[in-house]
Amino acid sequence: MSKILVLQGPNLNLLGTREPSIYGSQTLADIQADIDKLCRARGHKALHFQSNAEHELVNAIQNAKQDNIEFIVINAAALTHTSVALRDALSAVGIAFIECHLSNVYSREAFRHHSYLADIAIGVISGFGAQSYELALIAAFAHLEQSDP
Ligand code: DQA
Repeated sequence: MSKILVLQGPNLNLLGTREPSIYGSQTLADIQADIDKLCRARGHKALHFQSNAEHELVNAIQNAKQDNIEFIVINAAALTHTSVALRDALSAVGIAFIECHLSNVYSREAFRHHSYLADIAIGVISGFGAQSYELALIAAFAHLEQSDP
């Protein structure tokens, strides 16, 4: 059993009502319940954290090490495009992670095309709505099961 930390950045608490044509109609609680189900079915445990504050996400990443988190799925939302602090935290703990987005950031405004996290991630999944998390988990499971068969 591995612990997978699923981090959600600013404004993702508004999923369901926030620009549904871009982000879909599922709430964050719906998405988290689906993630829990998928993780349980594979014998893993998901831990969830959402914050609108950069420093709280940095703290969650720092604490992940002592909490024995083995993998992180992160949708850093707007902080993806701005945060050196999140990048440094992820580098510091050295826990494998996937960057995840509901929307296809590359089909949107130019400022969304740059990520401070992507080049140090295992990979990036973007554009599949709530299914992006499922796809990220499939890749996370493969990574975990490869490193700890
Ligand atoms: C997002 C894409 C970001 O550019 C945006 O700032 C978000 C959500 C996504 O999931 O599509 O808040 O990360």
